[in-house]
Amino acid sequence: MAYRHWKLDTDPDNIVWVSFDKAEASANTFSADVMAEFTALLDELRAKNPRGVIIRSGKTSGFIAGADVEEFTKVTSTEEALAIVRRGWDAMNKLAALPFPTLALVNGFCMGGGLELALACRYRIAVDQPGTRFALPEVMLGILPGWGGVMRLPRVVGPSAALDMMMTGRSVDARRAKRMGLADASVPPRVMENSARMVILEAPPPRKLPFAQALMNSPLLRPLVAAMARRQLAAKARREHYPAPYAILELWQKYDGDPFAPRPDDPASVATLAEGDTARNLIRIFFLQERMKSFGKESSFAAGHVHVIGAGVMGGDIAAWCAMRGLRVTLQDQNAKALAPAMKRAQALFKRRLRDKRLIRDAADLLIPDVAGEGARRADVIIEAIFENLEVKRALFAKLEAAAKPGAILATNTSSLKLADIGANFADPRSLVGIHFFNPVPQMQLVEIVSGGNTDPAIANNAAAFVRQLDKLPLHVKDAPGFLVNRVLGPYLNQALRMVDEGMAPETIDAAMTRFGMPMGPIELADTVGLDICMHAGKALAGGDAEPPKKLADLVAAGSLGKKTGRGFYAWEKGKAQKGPAGTVTQELIERLIAPYLKEAQAVAAEGIVADADLADAGLIFGTGFAPFRGGPLRFMADKKAG
Ligand code: NAI
Repeated sequence: MAYRHWKLDTDPDNIVWVSFDKAEASANTFSADVMAEFTALLDELRAKNPRGVIIRSGKTSGFIAGADVEEFTKVTSTEEALAIVRRGWDAMNKLAALPFPTLALVNGFCMGGGLELALACRYRIAVDQPGTRFALPEVMLGILPGWGGVMRLPRVVGPSAALDMMMTGRSVDARRAKRMGLADASVPPRVMENSARMVILEAPPPRKLPFAQALMNSPLLRPLVAAMARRQLAAKARREHYPAPYAILELWQKYDGDPFAPRPDDPASVATLAEGDTARNLIRIFFLQERMKSFGKESSFAAGHVHVIGAGVMGGDIAAWCAMRGLRVTLQDQNAKALAPAMKRAQALFKRRLRDKRLIRDAADLLIPDVAGEGARRADVIIEAIFENLEVKRALFAKLEAAAKPGAILATNTSSLKLADIGANFADPRSLVGIHFFNPVPQMQLVEIVSGGNTDPAIANNAAAFVRQLDKLPLHVKDAPGFLVNRVLGPYLNQALRMVDEGMAPETIDAAMTRFGMPMGPIELADTVGLDICMHAGKALAGGDAEPPKKLADLVAAGSLGKKTGRGFYAWEKGKAQKGPAGTVTQELIERLIAPYLKEAQAVAAEGIVADADLADAGLIFGTGFAPFRGGPLRFMADKKAG
């Protein structure tokens, strides 16, 4: 039979090579038509009864990205949602029941339904290359792996590792997959086909779970394992906010991963998740994220060399991040002494994130200290991250503009100065753009691309393409005070800090906002950002006349600047705020605290600081951590209005 998305080749050993190459798509996903063909081809294979089957990707990169998330958005009833689960569940069970050896040859990403397919095969070979990642990320969309993942992953890798992967969505690379038993082998690309063929020909008995792991997966110990996992989960996510990880845990514990075993009103059922708002909102955010990822796509700009000036908190980390992403970086500051802490921090970042010695060395080789600023002449992107002082920045840019090669992006990381002011003396102000990173650079995904009145839209697009090169999310914003993120955070933090002045305990305020769904309360956030920065940003936003919150001003005057000095609103030990007990959190308190945030978000959308309300929601989720399960502040307000 001929298929649109699949190709079958039988080799001289009577092994059938099944190549998945989804038509008219860059990545393989399981849409309804793909799944229908897959089911048909499984029937064909069963009838054919070959020596074995190897499933591989027909794409140049990537194995299978999972289910087609686009189809989820069109689902209008619980029945339709269940039908999607049913067809995948049935197909994977059919694959698992084939009476001959089956193998998934995984080169590149293997996510969600892709991993469930691999798990339904008797063997898995992971190709050891940078893009190979295994994950069940359904939980991030507020749903669960319903095509057999919850049943099979714990059987293959044991419940602790499986629950961790399923409840966090975390991915593992080829080597780790091999170590944990998810892959039978991890092999270099050049031998992948041969290795797969050998496994099928030898058909060794499938790997058995070590005794202790098997015991933990037994009905006897499941309640205990689940209770431990539930306790850890409860410390991180509330069930009413994020029901999916709880459902995954219960589906494994009580129903061995069979999504059709629980009754529809059981919290572990797919139906309950599909009917809730969390999944709808998280799926929306997934698409907003995809939209941000597409910014800069129309530009062919690709940076090879970045020059960063200012090796402080921001510049140092921006430079390190660029080097980690494979770019050549020259880092300039006033003298070698000023560069030293940034170089040290960079090394620590490389070690933490890259682990592999060779990769760490490669990144370190790319980061070059450059006190003389020679790199500015050769750089494709120049990022200024010096003190927030207009005159000094202007003087610096006068030199940079003269030194830069034609077509280079001249970017400032300023938080509070206007681009129009920084660029006032430029010979050609069209080349100046804001590339506004957030602190801490390695953790924060969002980067605001600020266009001033003079910025050339093509340069802004090049800047977005550059931010994508760094694997961050670019968002175009207008050159208005605070841009998007700080503008909205300002009044929110101000309100919280003034409530401390009124006598409310920081712990109570923070508890109220984490109850609402913020990853961190506003007082802890202020301490983390740095109280001097908060004060400066507050003044810049309020125009400089308003009195700052009293306790904030006192702490700054005393040199207690928060986390970085070990003391702020909280005492900080080993990077953790030492908190006392929180007082009672009422709905009224929550509403009072979040009101300024919501009001400002509305104003920002109305003023067109970003292109539309969807992007305001996305920017505020990725830039401020606004409770993702609520879908963003504007969506939240619309939902509240709708009742
Ligand atoms: P910082 O004070 O930590 O570092 C500034 C560095 O610039 C210092 O190492 C200093 O020696 C160097 N510098 C000053 N003048 C120089 C010159 N003429 N030539 C070369 N080096 C020079 O400052 P931070 O916090 O990194 O801020 C830098 C910029 O980033 C500012 O524009 C700030 O508004 C912005 N920003 C800061 C954020 C934060 O949370 N700290 C967040 C986002 C943006």
